[in-house]
Amino acid sequence: METYKIPGTELEPSRIALGTWAIGGRQWGGTDDAQAIRTIHAAIDRGITLIDTAPAYGFGHSEEVVGKAIAEIGQRDRLTIATKVGLEWGDGIQGVVRNSTPARIEKEVDDSLRRLGVDAIDLYQVHWPDPKAPMEDTARTMERLYRDGKIRAIGVSNFSPEQCDAFREVAPLHAVQPPLNLFERDAERSIIPYAKRDGLAMLTYGALCRGLLTGKMHRDYGFSGDDLRNNDPKFQQPRFDQYLAAVEALDRFAQERHGKRVLELAVRWLLDRNANGIALWGARRPDQVDPVERIADWTLSYEEIEEIERIVDEHVQDPVGPEFMAPPTRDV
Ligand SMILES: NC(=O)c1ccc[n+]([C@@H]2O[C@H](COP(=O)([O-])OP(=O)(O)OC[C@H]3O[C@@H](n4cnc5c(N)ncnc54)[C@H](OP(=O)(O)O)[C@@H]3O)[C@@H](O)[C@H]2O)c1
Repeated sequence: METYKIPGTELEPSRIALGTWAIGGRQWGGTDDAQAIRTIHAAIDRGITLIDTAPAYGFGHSEEVVGKAIAEIGQRDRLTIATKVGLEWGDGIQGVVRNSTPARIEKEVDDSLRRLGVDAIDLYQVHWPDPKAPMEDTARTMERLYRDGKIRAIGVSNFSPEQCDAFREVAPLHAVQPPLNLFERDAERSIIPYAKRDGLAMLTYGALCRGLLTGKMHRDYGFSGDDLRNNDPKFQQPRFDQYLAAVEALDRFAQERHGKRVLELAVRWLLDRNANGIALWGARRPDQVDPVERIADWTLSYEEIEEIERIVDEHVQDPVGPEFMAPPTRDV
């Protein structure tokens, strides 16, 4: 398994990380805890050492499941536990709203430490920029947690370069977490060049474009209950067909050139595209991490990367990003 030393920290996690949003249950049509724990163990068995979670994933549930899984497997020192802060839920709030005020961060960090059952959080990330909380206050609070040893590295997610600049005037920043996959490349025009220029680690999320890049989907594929893909414009026609056609063409390319499949190509593309990148792969069943082993020991050339991106552009005439997932700000 390839690893990446996060500049300015002691952390050197695997370059493929397990994402545990779906494990929280909410917005993914439910979850099964025993299966989720087996998935986390299977990921660790396959060499994954970074687990990314957030309080917002199932209102604390994902963190609790991650906590149970790491307590059971007992390899805390090998693992990099990344979680987030700054989304609030509760009475009178529909879903979650952004809240990165000092009071909210101070409450959340203790809740996360308890749910995860750890003494310190390895990477603590502001989940979304909060325009209603002064950036200076958010950054100063994060810096205090870092100085006190409650967190070992600081990250931000969904931030623009300008927001990162404002944050870094007050606190150190080690990692950013933007969306990135073969179908969602907007970050390549903003935060990705910024992170490369300034030596920040990048945990890129949605490696499989919420399952689209696994190759398992077809025209009649459906999602149950509160699954967010029911509202994702990519999974609605006529766009869905465009994405499915791109997946088919990418799968052909992967098989002909490397004897691989589209899922493996999608993750390899992420790793080879950005040397400072860590790919966040969401999984909730143990078999879903089986292909991790097939990402190793091969690479894409620069020409192949260009060819792959051309295939996507040829098939997807009407691309759309992950904006639909952005949580609202508070009313007050
Ligand atoms: N910072 C942020 O704002 C933010 C936003 C989004 C995500 N993230 C992070 O990034 C992680 C990854 O993103 P994501 O979970 O949204 O999506 P993803 O990694 O693009 O896709 C995950 C989904 O793909 C399917 N899948 C995974 N492996 C598979 C396999 N081998 N075969 C078939 N299907 C497979 C599963 O869906 P089914 O189980 O339904 O089949 C799984 O839930 C999240 O878990 C989270 O940690 C962060």
